[in-house]
Amino acid sequence: MTQRTALVTGGTGGIGSAIIHYLAQQGHRVATNYRDQAKAEAWRQKMASSGIEVLLVPGDVSDPASSETMVRQVEEKLGPVEILVNNAGITRDTTFHKMSYQQWTEVMNTNLNACFNVTRPVIDNMRTRKWGRIVQISSINGQKGQYGQANYAAAKAGMHGFTISLAQENAKFGITVNTVSPGYVGTDMVMAVPEEVREKIVAQIPVGRLGKPDEIAHAVAFFTGEQASWITGANLAINGGHYMGW
Ligand code: CAA
Repeated sequence: MTQRTALVTGGTGGIGSAIIHYLAQQGHRVATNYRDQAKAEAWRQKMASSGIEVLLVPGDVSDPASSETMVRQVEEKLGPVEILVNNAGITRDTTFHKMSYQQWTEVMNTNLNACFNVTRPVIDNMRTRKWGRIVQISSINGQKGQYGQANYAAAKAGMHGFTISLAQENAKFGITVNTVSPGYVGTDMVMAVPEEVREKIVAQIPVGRLGKPDEIAHAVAFFTGEQASWITGANLAINGGHYMGW
């Protein structure tokens, strides 16, 4: 199998860690960004103890200059980024009539503007080299909306608009661009939802439980594989049947 250089943003989180596991196990060289160095270093050591080597680079995906510096550091150490997973994301949940401009912009900058900030510095090299895999980690709530998430749902829906435009522009350059839309997965982000609210949400999931990070990472590994070369502009829902679009 060809070994590629992969950058997974927000790799120290629940879904990000699982994606890194899968990509590293496939033999790829994997990097992620951090903002809190001590926390990230502890995470890196834990990954290393299970045989997964990860390059850590500082970088704030909500900031264009920081994102560009981050990409250049990855390139310097591991070579041009061939697989990019735009995974970093945050929530600032509140009903819209209580939402501050800050809660709106923080989510827009980290979840949607980050797609510009991180993809822009990698795209030229992918086009020149005529190979690339880009995956956006969106959300079920970008597809169905969610009470308390006008900011998050708008950003996540926007990510797929980004995907389908980039997919068209770059199809002739061997670059595929796809979206994975996870439902409620048992990560810190979902566990931060108040328990009584979360229980009501889980009751709406036909499979009857929260998802597992591996169940998302598996699909990312599929989209980024050599053989997924004719799949572009897709949006794969992985949500235990919670929302079934077609
Ligand atoms: N539909 C209809 N009404 C709802 C509702 C819903 N889904 N959820 C809450 N309400 C109602 C409540 O019943 C309550 O009604 P009453 O006032 O009549 O009793 C009212 O809304 C509460 O409204 P408030 O404005 O006072 O809300 P709050 O400040 O108490 O909190 C909230 C609202 C922050 C949105 C809270 O309900 C919450 O955290 N909800 C979960 C949001 C969520 O799903 N976030 C996902 C995070 S994980 C993630 O994002 C990962 C991913 O991609 C899936």
